[in-house]
This record gives sequence, C-alpha cells and structure tokens, in this order.
Amino acid sequence: MSEATKITTLDHGPFLVTGPVLLTDAEGKNFHSERETIALCRCGGSTTKPFCDGAHSKLGFQAAEKAVQQAEN
Ligand code: FES
Repeated sequence: MSEATKITTLDHGPFLVTGPVLLTDAEGKNFHSERETIALCRCGGSTTKPFCDGAHSKLGFQAAEKAVQQAEN
C-alpha cells in the first residue's frame, strides 16, 4: 500500500505537504524535493515559489479561508 499524502493548512501561513508528491507548475516544470514535508506558499510573497520562504510573516499575511467540513452522504 502506498503512503498517503497529507496537506495541512497553517493559520496565516503555507500549506504543509507531507508524503509523496509530484509538483508540476503551469508550464509543466516539475519540482522535486528530498524533504519529507514541504511548505507551499499561499501568500504570494515568497521569492522561492512555489515554496514558502517565510515572507508571509513579514507581510502580515491573513488567510481568510478555512477548511469547511463536508456533510457525509
Ligand atoms: S506562505 Fe510563506 S512565504 Fe508565502
């Protein structure tokens, strides 16, 4: 059985992605990481996009969205 990939949102910070992942940008460029967990920028301020470089703290990024519980069918 393959390992599950987990995505965690940090309040006013990046998405943490743990587990196997292939990240491809809009131009088809693949990003590989040897790390077990990667942080993806969602504030738009990182100089190392798609990865978080901590700029969200300096920018005072305020994430408005929260995960919404889905009703079970
Ligand atoms: S979320 Fe950290 S730099 Fe954008």
